[in-house]
Amino acid sequence: MSIWGPRKAIEASHEHHPHKLHRTLGWPHLVALGVGAIVGTGILTLTGVGAALAGPGVILSFLIAGLVCAAAALAYAELATMIPQSGSAYTYSYVAIGETIAWIVGWSLILEYSVVCSTVAVGWSGYFAGFMEANGMALPRALTAGPHAGGIVNLPAVGIIAAVAGLLLVGTRESAVLNTILVALKIAALAMFVAIALPAFDQDNFQPFMPHGFFSHVDEDGTKRGVLAAASIIFFAFYGFDAVSTAAEEARNPEKDMTIGIVGSMLACVVIYMAVAASAIGAVPVAQFANSAEPLALVLRALGSDMAAKVFGAVAVIALPTVILAFLYGQTRIFFVMARDRLLPERLGRVNPKSGVPTAVTIGTAIVVSALAAFLPLAEIAALANAGTLCAFVAVGISMLVLRRREPGRPRPFRTPLAPLVGLICIVGCIGLFITLPAETQVRFLIWNVIGLLCFFGFRRLRRSSPVA
Ligand code: ALA
Repeated sequence: MSIWGPRKAIEASHEHHPHKLHRTLGWPHLVALGVGAIVGTGILTLTGVGAALAGPGVILSFLIAGLVCAAAALAYAELATMIPQSGSAYTYSYVAIGETIAWIVGWSLILEYSVVCSTVAVGWSGYFAGFMEANGMALPRALTAGPHAGGIVNLPAVGIIAAVAGLLLVGTRESAVLNTILVALKIAALAMFVAIALPAFDQDNFQPFMPHGFFSHVDEDGTKRGVLAAASIIFFAFYGFDAVSTAAEEARNPEKDMTIGIVGSMLACVVIYMAVAASAIGAVPVAQFANSAEPLALVLRALGSDMAAKVFGAVAVIALPTVILAFLYGQTRIFFVMARDRLLPERLGRVNPKSGVPTAVTIGTAIVVSALAAFLPLAEIAALANAGTLCAFVAVGISMLVLRRREPGRPRPFRTPLAPLVGLICIVGCIGLFITLPAETQVRFLIWNVIGLLCFFGFRRLRRSSPVA
C-alpha cells in the first residue's frame, strides 16, 4: 500500500478470470492497429493548423512532438511487455504508483479515447459531406453539423461511430483484418502525396522559418502561437500507438508482438509525417494551406493534380474510420479493466462468451461518443484529447522509472535504452506540452478530473459496502 492507495501486483494474471479476452492478435495486426490509430485527422488536417501557428517551423513542431511521443512509446513498450495486461497507462500506474493515481490516469484515458473518437468522426463527416457534394448528392447542412457550426446535429459522425462499434461487436480479429487493409490504403495515399509534392520542392518556401518565434506566447487575439504552441496541437497527430498496449491481453505473443507493435508503428509514423510535412511546405507557401480544412488536398490542387486531390479525399473518407476503430477499441478495454478491478460497476466488465468482446461497454461507449460528435465543435475537443493523453504519458514515464528502481531484477522482455534520459524526456516533454495548451483546455481538463475524483470516492464507498463474495 502506498500513499496513493493499494497497488496491483504485476503477477495479477487474468488468465483464469471469467471475464477473459481472447488471444487472437499477431504483431502485423498490432502494427496495423497502431498505424491505423496514429495516421488520421492530425496529419490530414492539423498540419494546416500547426502551420498557421508556427509557419514553416511547424516541421520543428513535428520533430518535438515526435520526440516526446517516441520517448513515451519506448516507456510504453517496456511496461506493456513487462505487464501484459489490458488497461494501458491505467494498469501501469496501478502497478507502479497506486489506485488513486491509476484512477486519475484511467479517467484521463477515458477522456482521451472518447474525445479522439468524437473528433475524428466530426472530421470524417466533413470529408464525407464534401465527397457527397462533389458527386451531386449534397446533404442538408442542418444534418451534417452541430449547432456551433450552423447545423442541428451531425448525423454522418453518429453513423460512422455506430458502424465502427458494430465491427468491434463482431469480434476483434475480424475488425483488425479490415483495419489492416484500410491502413494500407491510407499509407498509399500519403505516399502518393509525397511523390507528387516532393518534385515541386522549393527551399524559398522555408523562409522566414519561424515567423511566430520558437517559444509559445499569447498574441493580441488571445491565441497561443510559436513552434512549441504548434507542437502541443500537432501532438494529436502522433498518439495512437498507446492504443496497441490496450490489446496486451489479446496478443498471441505479448513480449515480441507488443514491442514490434508499439515501437514499430510509432517509428513508421514519425518517418511518414516528416516526409509529408516537408513535402507540403516545400511545394506550396505555408500561408496558402494554413488553416485549410483539407490542407493536403489543397496542396495537391495547387500543384495542378485535381484527380489526385479527389483520390486523396476519397481515401480519407474510407480510411479515417481506422482511427475511430482503434480508439473505440482502446476505450472499451479501459472500461473493461477498470470494471474488472472494481473501480467501476462490475457489470461493465462482462464479456460476450462467443466474440470475447465486452458488449455492454462497447455499446455504451459508442452512444456517449456519438452524442459528443453529434453536437460539439472539433478544434476544442481535439485540444482536450491532447490534455488527457499528456497526463497518461506522464504517468507512463513515471511508472517506468519507479519500477526500474523498485523491481530492478524483474524480467523485461523489452528494455528501454537510456531509460532515465528517455523517462525524463517523456515526463518533462509532456508537462511542457501541457503548459503550452490553450488555458481553457487546461481548465476543462481540471474540471473533468475533479468530477472523476468525486466518482472515484463514490464508487469506492459502494465497493466497500458490497465486498467480493
Ligand atoms: N493520431 C490520431 C490522429 O491524428 C489521433 O487522428
